[in-house]
Amino acid sequence: MPYRTIIEPFKIHSVQHIDMPAAEDREAALQRAGYNLFGLHADEVIIDLLTDSGTGSMSAAQWGAMMIGDESYAGSRSYERLRGVVEGLTGMPEVIPTHQGRASERILFSIVAQPGMVVPNNTHFDTTRANVEFQGAEARDLVIAEGRDPSADHPFKGNMDIGALRETISEVGKDRIPLVMVTVTNNSGGGQPVSLENLREVRAVCDEYDIPFYLDACRFAENAWFIKTREDGYSEHSPRQIAQEMFALADGITFSAKKDGLANIGGLLVMRDAEVAAQCRNLLILTEGFPTYGGLAGRDLEAIAVGLDEVLEEGYLQYRIRSTEYLAEKCRDAGVPIVWPAGGHAVYLDAKELLPQIPQSEYPAQSLAVELYRDGGVRGVEIGSVMFGTVHEDGTEDPAQMELVRLAIPRRTYTQSHVDYVAEVVLSVAARASSLTGYRIVEQASWLRHFTARFAPIAG
Ligand code: F0G
Repeated sequence: MPYRTIIEPFKIHSVQHIDMPAAEDREAALQRAGYNLFGLHADEVIIDLLTDSGTGSMSAAQWGAMMIGDESYAGSRSYERLRGVVEGLTGMPEVIPTHQGRASERILFSIVAQPGMVVPNNTHFDTTRANVEFQGAEARDLVIAEGRDPSADHPFKGNMDIGALRETISEVGKDRIPLVMVTVTNNSGGGQPVSLENLREVRAVCDEYDIPFYLDACRFAENAWFIKTREDGYSEHSPRQIAQEMFALADGITFSAKKDGLANIGGLLVMRDAEVAAQCRNLLILTEGFPTYGGLAGRDLEAIAVGLDEVLEEGYLQYRIRSTEYLAEKCRDAGVPIVWPAGGHAVYLDAKELLPQIPQSEYPAQSLAVELYRDGGVRGVEIGSVMFGTVHEDGTEDPAQMELVRLAIPRRTYTQSHVDYVAEVVLSVAARASSLTGYRIVEQASWLRHFTARFAPIAG
């Protein structure tokens, strides 16, 4: 068949206005926000690639299902519907709704983690790390070496380093490892997938030491698509079969329905162990709500139940992964350094490589993110030393491994011309990269500082 453009497999049913702030308005917004893009108002942003979380468009079927949401406080029909969908997909009987992924993390780690313990993960997402550390435990990242090198070409750069996992277990002792977690896809490591082969190896190690194995499954469907297209033996499997095989290897999952649940809010904590689930439910009631709604409206549960089916449609996943790759190719073909291969939900620009004149102590990825907004109103997010640097008590800092700017693509929201515009902005900033200068932090919080820190430009 001749090559055909992979088109958006949907037509637009309701539209939202995009504001077009002028250059001087963007400059004023930057100053007001202390050069922190989290401080911008939505009407100051032209294309918002801050996150793919909760920012997608729901389908007509999801909106329709919301109309039959059952708002019963206990035993809601909508919960039963969602429970059935989740159990069918994961094979796990204990299905606990939460208001979003980090609520699942907080509840799980409050139950299983204690001071002195170590939680291995390929790469912890920032809220996952914060929730582990909040319990006094250590969050240890054990992704394979290729996963730390933006330009290393490998089909599964999110894989866990099995040797490092074994070393950690023998160093720490299995009793101080409450669970092993693998994040699919590996968001903080460039949205890179994990192979089924690697998940099987993690499972085998966990079996050997009798340690529970959990998936952070936020982007499970995107991971399944990468397995289908990259791992030997899976090209004829449906995304659902692959996802089921992934879940069959795990003892439990944390999940943010704001990603591959195709919903605007919601999360899940799902597991096989009824005893741990009972403890989790007791905590859930304290802060989230009764176990059949977990802090969500019944209509939200309906939207997630439908979303979990739609996200596994082949046409959707093919378009989804291709549209991210399309932006990545435009950047790479113009010589802009990016994490390669493209991630599932985002393109990650490599600011360390693009801005060698800015030392890591002056936050090159922050500088690049600010400049993309200044140039074209495109909002990405810094994933570098602002987010993941280690701040010591004396105020000194260890930089993060990588200095990335993530351009996360909301699901079913932007069209190809929006993506073309984003590429134009990236290329325009890259063309004058050598003139960019760094930033210093003038105000910061002690937890998750990237959300609220204020910056000042360092004059060139
Ligand atoms: N785990 C991963 C891998 C995530 O990417 C996120 C959220 C969470 C857990 C927490 O889920 O937001 O529902 O509480 N990631 C968003 C992002 C915020 O922009 O990448 P949540």
